[in-house]
Amino acid sequence: MAVTFAEKLARMPGYQAGVPTGHAPESLAASGIAQLASNESPSPPHPKVVDAIAAAAKAMNRYPDPDATLLRRRIAERYDTDPSRVAVGNGSCEILLAAAEALCEPGAEILYAWPAFSMYPYLPALSGAREIRVPLDANETHDLEAMAAEVTAATQLVLVCNPNNPTATHRPAAEVAAFCESLPAHVTVILDEAYAEFQTHDDPDATVDLLGGLSNLVVLRTFSKCYGLAGLRVGYALGSPRFRAAVDAVRQPFSVNALAQAAGAEAILHQDDVAKRVEATIAERLRVEEGLAELGLATSETHANFSWIDLGEAGEAEVVAALAERQIAVRPGAPLGDPGHIRVSYGRPAENDRFLAALGEILA
Ligand SMILES: Cc1ncc(COP(=O)(O)O)c(C=O)c1O
Repeated sequence: MAVTFAEKLARMPGYQAGVPTGHAPESLAASGIAQLASNESPSPPHPKVVDAIAAAAKAMNRYPDPDATLLRRRIAERYDTDPSRVAVGNGSCEILLAAAEALCEPGAEILYAWPAFSMYPYLPALSGAREIRVPLDANETHDLEAMAAEVTAATQLVLVCNPNNPTATHRPAAEVAAFCESLPAHVTVILDEAYAEFQTHDDPDATVDLLGGLSNLVVLRTFSKCYGLAGLRVGYALGSPRFRAAVDAVRQPFSVNALAQAAGAEAILHQDDVAKRVEATIAERLRVEEGLAELGLATSETHANFSWIDLGEAGEAEVVAALAERQIAVRPGAPLGDPGHIRVSYGRPAENDRFLAALGEILA
């Protein structure tokens, strides 16, 4: 039976951005707002990346390279693979949406843990596939065993958010490998690793090494987090040439704009800069987690650039509002179906201090 426009609209979850509206990014700091709601890097891009963007800006009268050839080649070199195995998108979000559109139809099933990344419900909503949500375990971690038990002949796509947004928990590569190996060949698994560089269980590329043996595995990464390029919207997937062709078949031509291509192609050359950002983030993570423990607050085990805080008896909406009054933006848990929690991204050290002091004051 045909789906009406109104029915389709009603299915859409409606994305709530953590970013305050009405503020140009360059004036956000001057506005006094501590933007700790979107898991961005608090540091600007590497100067050479800014130069590459400025150089590319001079040719904005032209459309970008439709194949993002240089960007895909540099990504392939970084991971010692072939460019035919690299898909790029307007943020890794676009690749997620394209995967659902290309691989799923009504009657198919998309399986994911919950709570997880708030974009995932769009994939079934847009493609008409049925969503199967599997609750996280008692440690707020992916229950891979329970997920495997939900796989059926109709399962087309499995999403594993690792580290998981919003809980920051992580399953080590060996466990993910065992999970993927246990699944039937008709299932495509997207390992969404937007925060992989921040986890400390494994070498961040351990899951990339699995691609050789698992033809239906896709590793999804982004330039938005540890590369500090959230404003440009560029993400990539490593997988089979078939997966890349599927994504390219449905995504808009030129969706990775010329500035984003130039920036990504330059940024990936500066792995020393990425390592420094990750190190600084982990140092702040330790400080914030220590501060939260001193306030008597529990968090799930974090492997990301944010903490997931259990507020205990305190009301989540009141805490979020009181922080907002103090110009501190964090993410509430209730819209993700996990009330009583907030997610705080690590900002600059002074912002993190401000957050901890404000939270202490509010909870006192
Ligand atoms: C788990 C996860 N995946 C993907 C993304 C999307 O990143 P982008 O579209 O900026 O590449 C995010 C952004 O917050 C995320 O948390």
